[in-house]
Amino acid sequence: MAGTSEFSPQTLQTLSGLRFSAATAAFQIEGARTLGGRGRSIWDDFVDDPGNVLDSSTADPGPDSYHRSAEDVELLAGLGVDRYRFSISWVRIIPDGKQGTKPNAVGLDYYERLVDELLAAGVRPEATLYHWDLPSSLEATGGWLNRDTVHRFGEYVEAVANRLGDRVHHWYTINEPASTSLQGYALGELAPGRTMLFDALPSVHHQLLAHGTAATILREHGAQQVGAAINHSLILPETDAEADHAAAAILDLIYNRLFADPLLLGEYPDLDALGVQMPIYDGDMELISTPCDVYGFNYYNPTTVRGVDDGPLPFEMVPTPQAATTGFGPLWPIRPDTLRDFLIDMGTRYGVRLPPIVISENGASFPEPEICTEPIRDDERIAYLHDHLVAVAETVDAGVRVDGYTVWSLLDNFEWAHGYTQRFGLVHVNMETGQRTPKSSYEWYRDLIASVRA
Ligand code: BGC
Repeated sequence: MAGTSEFSPQTLQTLSGLRFSAATAAFQIEGARTLGGRGRSIWDDFVDDPGNVLDSSTADPGPDSYHRSAEDVELLAGLGVDRYRFSISWVRIIPDGKQGTKPNAVGLDYYERLVDELLAAGVRPEATLYHWDLPSSLEATGGWLNRDTVHRFGEYVEAVANRLGDRVHHWYTINEPASTSLQGYALGELAPGRTMLFDALPSVHHQLLAHGTAATILREHGAQQVGAAINHSLILPETDAEADHAAAAILDLIYNRLFADPLLLGEYPDLDALGVQMPIYDGDMELISTPCDVYGFNYYNPTTVRGVDDGPLPFEMVPTPQAATTGFGPLWPIRPDTLRDFLIDMGTRYGVRLPPIVISENGASFPEPEICTEPIRDDERIAYLHDHLVAVAETVDAGVRVDGYTVWSLLDNFEWAHGYTQRFGLVHVNMETGQRTPKSSYEWYRDLIASVRA
C-alpha cells in the first residue's frame, strides 16, 4: 500500500475513531513582530543575529497570519478538520516577560478574535502556550535554566486562561521541550543558541515544571483537555556493534525517556552515567506528573546513531540505511513503521499511566518552489501522510489508544534555523505576498476526513 494515497476499508474504519487537526505556531506564521505591543523573544534575537538562519529570513512578514487569520480559518473550515492547533505568543501577552506586567490587551484581543472565528467556523481551538518564544528578558536571567522562569510562565498562562478559558477547552502546555533543551541550550542550533552540552539538562526540569504549573492553572479554569506536546524519535543503532547500541541507549535516554518518564511515572531515568543532577525540590515530581487527559506526541522520523569515542558527545547521527528521505536530507528518513513501533513500545512501557495519545504533529517538507502559478502536486507529502496514518491505524489495532492526528503544518511557514527553505504546508504560501494556494495534499486530507466522517 505504501506510495498510494488509498486506504483499505479496515484502515478507514480505524481512523474514523480519530479527531483530525492541523497545526501551526505563532512565531512561524504571524509575522508582525513589532506590531500590537508585542515584545521581544529569544527568536527575535536569534533571527536578528546574522548567520543563524540559513536564508537570512526573519519570520516577518512570512505567512502574515497576524493580518490574515480569517483566511487561515477559512482554509481550516474547507479542510473539515475538527480542530486547529495554533500557539499563543508569550510576548504578545506579557511583552517584557516580567513579573507584575499588565497583560497586553491588544495581544489578547488578537487571539480572542482568532478563537471566535474558529468557533464560528465549527473548528475547535487547541492552543499551545509555549512554542519556543521565550521573552528575551527572561533569557537574560537564565531562561529555562532559571527556576523563576516557571513562575513567570504561570503568570502568563493565568492571563491567557482568564481571557480565553471560557471558550478554549483544549490546551497544549509546552511544545517539544527536547528541541528547546537539546537543540536550543545544548547544541546551539535553535534559540537561544547556547552550547552547553549536558549542562543544558536542568532546562528540561524547568520546562516540565512549567507544564505541570500550566496544567494546574488550566484545570482551575475548567479546561477539558490538557497535555504537553512531546517530540519523540525511535533511536536505531547503525550496526550491531556494542558501541552503536550503547550510543543508541544514551540518545534514547536523553531524547525520549528524559521526558516521558517524569511526565508519566513521576521520576527521571537514571542520569548518573551522564553526570547530571536535576534541580529537584519537594513536590516537583508530583507537579510534573500531574495526570493529563492526553499525551501529545510529535513524530517525524527515527534517528540512527553511531558510537563515538573521542567527540564532545558519545554518539553521532548518521543516515538511516535504505530509507527514503524528506527535503531535510539524509538525517530525516521516512520510516512510518518506527512511529508504530515506538507507540506500541510506549503502551507496553507505561501501561495504565499512559493517557490517550494524540499525534500532535506529523508531516514532512519537500523541495517546492517559492512562487507557484498553479496548485502544487505534492505526491511525496501525500504518500508520507498516508503511510504514517496507516502506521497510526496499526498502532490502534494493536491496542494502543490514539485519539487524534495533527498534520504539521496547515501552511508553509518559517522553519526556524532553516528559514523558508523547508516547506511543510498543506497550503503553499508565497512569502512575498502572503498568497495562499492549497496543494494536492490539502485536497487529499480534506477527502480523507470527509470519507471517515461519511
Ligand atoms: C516543531 C515545529 C517545526 C516542525 C518541523 C517540530 O519540531 O514543533 O515548530 O516546524 O517540527 O521541523
